[in-house]
Amino acid sequence: MSLPGDIERAAGILRAGGVVAFPTETVYGLGADAENAGAVARVFAIKARPPSHPVIVHVADAAALDAWCTPIPAVARRLAERFWPGPLTLILRRRDRVPDTVTGGLDTVGVRVPRHDVALALLRAFGGGLAAPSANRYGRISPTTAAHVHADLGRDVDFVLDGGPCRIGVESTIVDVSSGAPALLRPGGVTPEELEEVVGGPVHMRVGGPVRSPGQHPQHYAPRARVVIVDREEIGARAAALLASGRRVAVCASSRASDLPGGVEHIVLDPAPADTARELYAALREVDRRGCDVVLVTMPEEIGLGVAIADRLRRAAGLGPGSAGSDY
Ligand code: TXA
Ligand code: MG
Repeated sequence: MSLPGDIERAAGILRAGGVVAFPTETVYGLGADAENAGAVARVFAIKARPPSHPVIVHVADAAALDAWCTPIPAVARRLAERFWPGPLTLILRRRDRVPDTVTGGLDTVGVRVPRHDVALALLRAFGGGLAAPSANRYGRISPTTAAHVHADLGRDVDFVLDGGPCRIGVESTIVDVSSGAPALLRPGGVTPEELEEVVGGPVHMRVGGPVRSPGQHPQHYAPRARVVIVDREEIGARAAALLASGRRVAVCASSRASDLPGGVEHIVLDPAPADTARELYAALREVDRRGCDVVLVTMPEEIGLGVAIADRLRRAAGLGPGSAGSDY
């Protein structure tokens, strides 16, 4: 865990144009001064992320929204009031102070207030906005511990703040409130049901636009092993067939999946959605650590947090957002 004095040290590095990884309640972020185009460009370089993909600006409180965005519709204010600090990113029209490097040239910007003491202390000490994507290499699994960040990015980062394991474990929910009816761009830590309660109607997932955000790229959040989605009843037979063909096989499932053939790596995922979400990325990393070629996973029920978990599993399996088999 971080030591006293680390926040000041990290804020100083950010002021000098450096890059700092920090914990949030969702996943670890790779932060730079959002108004320093050169520092933000370094974040893109470290991640090997294409420059056209925008990053989220993290701010200390909802009052900062007006400094980064205009106009701000009433529904955006209601969402910010209800869910901030928390795992919700709002897409709004940007003000001129937001550099093109942050928005990938779009006229909108994503903003969120993270619900994490270390992140909030850092934002207050720094005093500005922090442009921060997840602290992983492009297309790989987001980090949910400081050790994941070190393993992925190592010496490329100037400093890593350690806030322990992330409490939510999947990324923020992204809602576009920049024009027209609010649209869901990525399901995440705030559930669709919670959103709809505040919006007062359905919030539809928007898919099919240009693939300009990695969160909307079909193959994202993927381990090296091939991810295969299976029905619970077929796990044993599928695992046996893969083993017979010489593959090293993992199964990510609850401890009740007991009919597994010998030789299968069983990585236990607690079935309660909040636990699955928190453990999911570490479990997929563990699949790679054990050198497996294939991992079999089952889909959760798609309500509540299950919507975000199912979305990440589909993307890890290369199926993209939306229904299974979507070629978006
Ligand atoms: O939970 C999270 O959101 C984490 C933590 C660190 O805050 N961050 C995160 O960042 O997941 P990243 O860059 O890995 O994913 C952010 C997503 C990307 O798909 C990005 O393209 C999209 O947000 N995004 C950012 N600004 C956007 C904009 N103006 N319009 C559409 N999508 C945008
Ligand atoms: Mg990411």
